[in-house]
Amino acid sequence: MAEDASPLNPPLAGLEMDRKADEPCTIVIFGASGDLTVRKLIPALFHLYEEGQMPESFRVVGFARREKTDESWRAEMREGLERYSRTKTVDDAQWEQFAANLAYHQGDLTDAEAYVDLAARLKEYGDERLANNLVFYLAISPSLFGEVVDQLHAATLLRRCEEGDSFWQRIVVEKPFGHDLQSARLLNNHLLRHARERQIFRIDHYLGKETVQNIMMFRFSNAIFEQLWSREAIEHVQITVSETVGVGSRGGYFEESGTMRDMMQNHLLQILSLVAMEPPPSLAAEDVRNEKVKALKSIRAMTPENVAQQVVRGQYFAGTVNGKNCSGYRQEEKVNPESNVETYVALKLFIDNWRWSGVPFYLRTGKNLPLRASEVRVQFRPTPNVLFAAQGDLDLMPNALTLRLQPDEGISLRFNGKVPGNSISSRPVRMHFGYDSEFGAYTPEAYERLLLEAMAGDATLFIRRDEVETAWQIVDDIRAAWGGQPLTNHEFYAAGTWGPVAAEDLLAQDGYTWHDPQPAL
Ligand SMILES: NC(=O)c1ccc[n+]([C@@H]2O[C@H](COP(=O)([O-])OP(=O)(O)OC[C@H]3O[C@@H](n4cnc5c(N)ncnc54)[C@H](OP(=O)(O)O)[C@@H]3O)[C@@H](O)[C@H]2O)c1
Repeated sequence: MAEDASPLNPPLAGLEMDRKADEPCTIVIFGASGDLTVRKLIPALFHLYEEGQMPESFRVVGFARREKTDESWRAEMREGLERYSRTKTVDDAQWEQFAANLAYHQGDLTDAEAYVDLAARLKEYGDERLANNLVFYLAISPSLFGEVVDQLHAATLLRRCEEGDSFWQRIVVEKPFGHDLQSARLLNNHLLRHARERQIFRIDHYLGKETVQNIMMFRFSNAIFEQLWSREAIEHVQITVSETVGVGSRGGYFEESGTMRDMMQNHLLQILSLVAMEPPPSLAAEDVRNEKVKALKSIRAMTPENVAQQVVRGQYFAGTVNGKNCSGYRQEEKVNPESNVETYVALKLFIDNWRWSGVPFYLRTGKNLPLRASEVRVQFRPTPNVLFAAQGDLDLMPNALTLRLQPDEGISLRFNGKVPGNSISSRPVRMHFGYDSEFGAYTPEAYERLLLEAMAGDATLFIRRDEVETAWQIVDDIRAAWGGQPLTNHEFYAAGTWGPVAAEDLLAQDGYTWHDPQPAL
């Protein structure tokens, strides 16, 4: 049938699957006076409300130690919304309606009474569903996760849910999930004492990003690309997540974590798993996550020899980022002046399966780099230049596909084009898709999608136990090979550059160069 545009068949009509959380529920935010709540969680819930995606009936209860009333907490959240919301303007009437559902519960997380009071408060809502369908959002230090879950269980607010139960409870946990494999396992065991795996929603906010979700849509709904998505056509893949900020006030936290644990273990390995996974049999959470885990498990083990050859770490010293002077990492607040903690990592990984055998995946991430960007660069194998070579020195570039995840979200494809004129000469040109120009400026924040999915009970965009543990195994092997050895001179980089020279060498030895993300056009 012809696909002409007509009122019944509009051009570029999208496949729409509107999402809405249907069942009435209460979201209890532990850490309600903290940074994450005011900057991300309340704005996300408010936008969901504005979009009509919240359940008909819901409550949000903020739990923290500081003295506040319902009114003072609501006022703070409203102020935060004006500062942090993606729309910047707040409709008064909408806010008033939304805020009527917000309540503040003052208490200490380690105090059993505080949970008894919380349970009583939920009962006062007079709707069994609001008192029993519960999302517990743990926006608190990970050291408190176990305590909260024990207390919730003791207060009978959290039960192991069975199929067919009338009510449900879910736990949303923020990153970092453990600091190595052992601590992640212990934490998993602890959470799973009182909840089933399907009740646990481990956040990696990258998975809430539209562009990251689009990796699967792009791969599995476009035959022309998926046909090429393997060692047959792809020469190598680069994944870059670059930040223009240093550690700022988080020096104390960063000294304990470093880039390998803070960024590589979660965001970059998650992106990698989406790029490399096999098509799942369905979009059901378990099917998608099974394939992601398989991809992670196929990563070739990092022996100390592999680490020496395939991993580069770095640390920034003083420099200039976008015209702004930045101090070196060792001079940052709460950082040891002789610290060897890495603020940059570049890796070469191999995925030893049928599809990817022999294709290097280069991953890099760092702080105080020249541009803030996250992108996947897929470089195809070179064309045999037999035809045009006879016409002169034509430098044909290999095709390259760039998935820009943020900012300037979009996808572009590089190919060779003939320069107009009577002689035969070529130039690489681009086909470009931009989210803004195609869909307008509206892009929901990652936390909107993630909160919606948690309320709807769909764990596809959350990390399963075996995923988080497999990722830790990779990171632990690398860190063990570093063995606490001090950084060498060639591992330092000036703030405002693309990282240490050793990272350039990592690709140069294979005949490649990094594709540095470019500023928005
Ligand atoms: N902020 C972000 O953008 C971000 C991004 C990704 C992940 N995260 C993760 O999210 C979590 C929260 O981060 P955050 O930046 O929001 O931290 P934060 O600003 O330090 O807030 C911590 C919250 O925990 C509460 N709290 C601590 N001890 C408590 C206790 N014994 N009883 C009751 N409440 C207690 C604090 O309440 P009181 O001070 O009132 O006691 C405060 O509301 C962390 O795991 C962090 O790694 C944060």
